[in-house]
Amino acid sequence: MLEGKRLAVLGVGTMGEALIRGLRARAPGVEVVGTVKHEASRARVEALGARPAESNAAAAEGADVLVLAVKPQVVPAVLSELRGRVAADALVVSIAAGVTTARIEELLGGEVPVVRVMPNTPCVLGEGISVLARGAHAGDEHLALARELFDSVGKTAVLEEGLIDAVTGLSGSGPAYVYLVIESLAEAGVKVGIPRATSTLLAAQTVLGAARMVLELGQHPALLKDAVTTPAGCTVDGLMELEEGKLRVTLLKAVVRAAERARELG
Ligand SMILES: NC(=O)c1ccc[n+]([C@@H]2O[C@H](COP(=O)([O-])OP(=O)(O)OC[C@H]3O[C@@H](n4cnc5c(N)ncnc54)[C@H](OP(=O)(O)O)[C@@H]3O)[C@@H](O)[C@H]2O)c1
Repeated sequence: MLEGKRLAVLGVGTMGEALIRGLRARAPGVEVVGTVKHEASRARVEALGARPAESNAAAAEGADVLVLAVKPQVVPAVLSELRGRVAADALVVSIAAGVTTARIEELLGGEVPVVRVMPNTPCVLGEGISVLARGAHAGDEHLALARELFDSVGKTAVLEEGLIDAVTGLSGSGPAYVYLVIESLAEAGVKVGIPRATSTLLAAQTVLGAARMVLELGQHPALLKDAVTTPAGCTVDGLMELEEGKLRVTLLKAVVRAAERARELG
């Protein structure tokens, strides 16, 4: 569905760039225009094989899909530039954390189809997870088009918009939690004598491998954990420390707090 379409990425930063890279690899026939704030950033847009537009309004002209990829606080200003300029059959896709589809519809005016998406940074490597929710005027075809876009940078799921803040707290912020885990495991490796570079490799590959086991074997994580834990072995001692350090409830609280903050930002 995307091939031959014209896409405007408004705000080609970390996430905008990830999307353009993913599209270049998966759907080379998509024409991409992009906007940035600073003149110096235009070269970055060109280097991605996209055309830098003079303004957000100019980028929106003739675009089939508009991706709103600026920071949440910049969204009202960008949408005020677009008001009345979005083609009647264009789709607006927003990845701005905390900004509801209702707010975007209100700022744009009219019955604009809007799909809200919460991606995460591994989209840069095509290994992201993006959750999509449709606005009041977005139909199945709009959702399918937006999904195709984000399928090019990883996996996708569809949920009700009421859950997007929760998703932000889990998979949107989640890479940061996992980096902390990897950093700590690597540090622990150094503590027990493993050279730092090898220790970081061991920690990161262990997280990657364990994640693939969950996704590809489809088994409950608890069963996979049990398979590593031999009676009176070493793993159970390590797990005991993690339970004492309240790892589970700490992660749970991290997701709850981040989700609450996402709601506040909205
Ligand atoms: N990073 C994440 O982990 C993540 C995850 C999920 C969702 N998001 C959402 O994705 C959005 C972008 O985040 P990001 O991390 O990619 O931010 P970012 O790297 O700071 O990118 C924002 C981009 O917007 C451009 N910009 C600023 N004002 C503009 C304007 N008036 N018109 C056009 N472009 C403008 C900036 O241009 P310059 O380069 O010239 O400054 C920059 O390239 C945010 O709304 C965030 O909530 C981010």
